[in-house]
Amino acid sequence: MSGCPYFQQKFVSTSKQQTEDEDNDSQTGVNKASKGGIIYGDYLKLDKILTSQVLQSELKGNKIHDEHLFIVTHQAYELWFKQVLWELDSVREIFISGHVRDERNMLKVNTRVHRIVMIFRLLIDQFAVLETMTALDFFDFREYLSPASGFQSLQFRLLENKIGVPHNQRVPYDRRHYRDNFRDQESEQLLRSEQESTLLQLVEQWLERTPGLEEDGFNFWGKLQTNIFKGLEAEKEKIEQKPDSEMKEEMMAEFIKHKDTFLSLFDEKRHEHLLSTGQRRLSYKALQGALMIYFYREEPRFQVPFQLLTSLMDIDTLMTKWRYNHVCMVHRMIGSKAGTGGSSGYQYLRSTVSDRYKVFVDLFNLATFLVPRNWIPKLNPNEHSFLYTAECCDSSYCSSDDSD
Ligand code: HEM
Repeated sequence: MSGCPYFQQKFVSTSKQQTEDEDNDSQTGVNKASKGGIIYGDYLKLDKILTSQVLQSELKGNKIHDEHLFIVTHQAYELWFKQVLWELDSVREIFISGHVRDERNMLKVNTRVHRIVMIFRLLIDQFAVLETMTALDFFDFREYLSPASGFQSLQFRLLENKIGVPHNQRVPYDRRHYRDNFRDQESEQLLRSEQESTLLQLVEQWLERTPGLEEDGFNFWGKLQTNIFKGLEAEKEKIEQKPDSEMKEEMMAEFIKHKDTFLSLFDEKRHEHLLSTGQRRLSYKALQGALMIYFYREEPRFQVPFQLLTSLMDIDTLMTKWRYNHVCMVHRMIGSKAGTGGSSGYQYLRSTVSDRYKVFVDLFNLATFLVPRNWIPKLNPNEHSFLYTAECCDSSYCSSDDSD
């Protein structure tokens, strides 16, 4: 039986009477839904959704056509935010409950995080529909909106908090706390979301457990450090052998910068300092795990983790693009006027399109530390036949006597 599920009968019967009934229905146009079971509109609560577009301009006796689009667009955004939160909470739960230790659950995590990515792609494009409204059309009903503002979008703030936007990185406006825009109950919900484990913290704990980091095991970090400084030494010797020239000086200056980058990578104190200023967000151990996944992404065991890291960067990128598209639209609609929520409007929003709001900034920065393939510590040859299994989550597949 094919077609829309809401208009099909619950049980398939082959009786003659049923076939006759169905024939009669199709000829007389009787609604099969009246015969029982849930129908489309009730299932989706369309009576509530489709009667929720109340135009303030109409209430004030001055109905403005485009206000309908304005309301529907915001409602569509909020519905999608709800779905993103639904996926995000389920992913956080998998991490919190420890189910992620069974590596088979990583596929579920990946699928859901990827779904969030796809929703964000859609949300970015959705601004184009609202931009069919001109600034003048918006001006016609803007006065009726005040003081309503996207500032008061509870779900947007929950989303930021649950992913891991740190409070101290938020761009301040009007010396007010962002929670002051919300009613007591909502404010408490936001406070809870700040106190619960964020996706960033959960991913950090997971990265810290990356197999192969153990100093008494494969000791990825120790081996990488040895290889990198050996490689750098060889590079330096090559430059030193060149005849004196301006080019040689430039090459040496470039080399020193290059070496400094790696000195900073292996300097834990420096890492702690960068953490305290918000320039890095992951712990030192988690950063090592991320780099390991990055380097060994082609190994069966690291393919799924690598996909997850890629999707997390996608989320950051897409949220930045969301902010950018939103601010461009705001500029076009209200120029440099203040927002209905009390901020400077365009100026404030423009300052939020920044790395301050990037949660997984360390994953982007991994590319700074890429090295030639032959500097990457070799894995145990047995590891190459290693299958991606849930049972094997100890470090045994990376042998400690593995030579570089
Ligand atoms: C004509 C269209 C729009 C205009 C002129 C506009 C304007 C603004 C302005 C001026 C702000 C800064 C806060 C304030 O002072 O009010 C803001 C914030 C915000 N708006 Fe919009 N907006 C528009 C459409 C949308 C849409 C469709 C959404 C989707 C949900 C949205 C979500 C938000 C959010 C979440 C914020 C807070 C951003 C932050 O603080 O980082 N806005 N908007």
